[in-house]
Amino acid sequence: MTLAHEVARRRTFAIISHPDAGKTTLTEKLLLFAGAIQIAGSVKARKASRHASSDWMEIEKQRGISVASSVMQIEYRDTVINLLDTPGHQDFSEDTYRVLTAVDAALMMIDAANGVEPQTIRLLQVCRARNTPIITFVNKMDREVREPLDLLSEIEGHLGMDAVPFSWPVGMGKSFGGVFDIRRDRMRVFRAGEDRLSHDDEIIEGIGNPEIARRFGAAFGQARGEIDLIEAAAPPFDAAAFLAGRQTPVFFGSAINNFGVQEVLDALVDMAPPPGSRHALQREVLPEEPRFSGVVFKVQANMDPAHRDRVAFVRVCSGRFERGMRLKVCRTGKEIRPNNVVSFLSQRRELLDEAYAGDVIGIPNHGVLQLGDVLTEGEVLQFTGLPFFAPELFQAVEVADPLRTKQLRTGLTQLGEEGAIQVFRPVAGGALLLGAVGQLQFEVVAHRLKTEYGVAARMMPSRYSMARWITADDPKDLKKFMDANAQHIAYDVVDAPAFLIGSSAQLRVAQELYPNVQFHALREHG
Ligand code: G4P
Repeated sequence: MTLAHEVARRRTFAIISHPDAGKTTLTEKLLLFAGAIQIAGSVKARKASRHASSDWMEIEKQRGISVASSVMQIEYRDTVINLLDTPGHQDFSEDTYRVLTAVDAALMMIDAANGVEPQTIRLLQVCRARNTPIITFVNKMDREVREPLDLLSEIEGHLGMDAVPFSWPVGMGKSFGGVFDIRRDRMRVFRAGEDRLSHDDEIIEGIGNPEIARRFGAAFGQARGEIDLIEAAAPPFDAAAFLAGRQTPVFFGSAINNFGVQEVLDALVDMAPPPGSRHALQREVLPEEPRFSGVVFKVQANMDPAHRDRVAFVRVCSGRFERGMRLKVCRTGKEIRPNNVVSFLSQRRELLDEAYAGDVIGIPNHGVLQLGDVLTEGEVLQFTGLPFFAPELFQAVEVADPLRTKQLRTGLTQLGEEGAIQVFRPVAGGALLLGAVGQLQFEVVAHRLKTEYGVAARMMPSRYSMARWITADDPKDLKKFMDANAQHIAYDVVDAPAFLIGSSAQLRVAQELYPNVQFHALREHG
């Protein structure tokens, strides 16, 4: 197979959803439909064991497993699908955001009873900023949920894009009759599914078919009215608008019942884009270029803390990766030869020995690879766009034993570089500040400081709840601002200055007083 063909048959995506919308269930059903597993239950069991324990060592033990399940590669209809996990819930951290920079499309999953929920909105913002195409799946139609038309307008409101229904539910909850496939003009009749696949779905052709009206009565009457309304009011599906992130196709179903899952899987194959070109400071990099390039978008500490072992997740951007090939780390010029790349769930083992644009390889290392690092066969490239998000939670950190201050600084610098947490050094002196987007990040850092650096850190509340990186076209303007607000300024791990505050009102005042200073909620690596 040619390189171009390998690239064209790849789809790399992540599911974004609020906890409990059914992401784990859908993930499992996608694996089931693609034939990667025969019986649903394995992913679910893993989740259960992970969430059952709040004990830190237990979480640590599970990390090895979560490395392996954080990328799932499946083959379906001659397409190689890479599903990247976005940890949700208590695991929520900046990693979740950065994973979205490594995908070419997102599947937004919504609980039909709850609509678009807060965590989904945060993740959506990242997708919107990158114009990532989004496919929407409205889940749990087997329950008493909200009216589909209502949900549709909520989706449009939050996404700021047109929602184009591809299917429409007939009834819901106890009277859920199935889903009408608007484009193929046929209805798939609902049947509660199990953990296995069945291939004898009942299909009724044609919206005018009297059998549908006879069997599904009022529910069908309502659905038909709504479909007519949508067809009159909603714009037609436009593939270019979808790929540009301006339209989202919407599907309805019930993941737990295997219902509507096949349609979503097919939509991913048929509509989601293959890997595209990537922007580097030096030039545009095309996925089908013969030479390998890849970028580290996530670093995860692995099982053995004593060895500072960690896995760098590399999204392949171009060329072909082969086990054992020589790669250059552009930041340092160092050469590495990854032999024991981490294997991810996959149907065919041989897929693990080579990788193409869109694939993810996990390279175990001892700190040689950092977040944002670019690997090539020799050319110096720096990809742009790996975001660091302004933290929303802050804690001051001190070391219990002053003699270990140096170890604390070393540890925090390394953890900061790795992206586990953001570290700020106030210009006015005093305790270092840690910034995070998820509470768990603080616990992870305290734990790792202790086990990996031998530092008992004391975390203390901070008065800050917001940070903005600051820049100005004229360095004099920046200096003036920094001098006047010195008690609120801190440098991050790459010495970029940030303005730390306690409320958005303070930010507004600063923006009004200093129109020549720009305040950024996001800093891009490189
Ligand atoms: P998450 O990963 O997004 O957090 O969600 P997860 O798949 O764990 O699903 C959350 C809950 O929603 C689970 O119930 C799951 O069974 C249920 N669920 C998922 N899809 C559907 C659906 O289509 N219909 C209905 N009615 N429920 C659905 P749970 O009680 O929390 O867990 P469990 O005891 O069923 O495992």
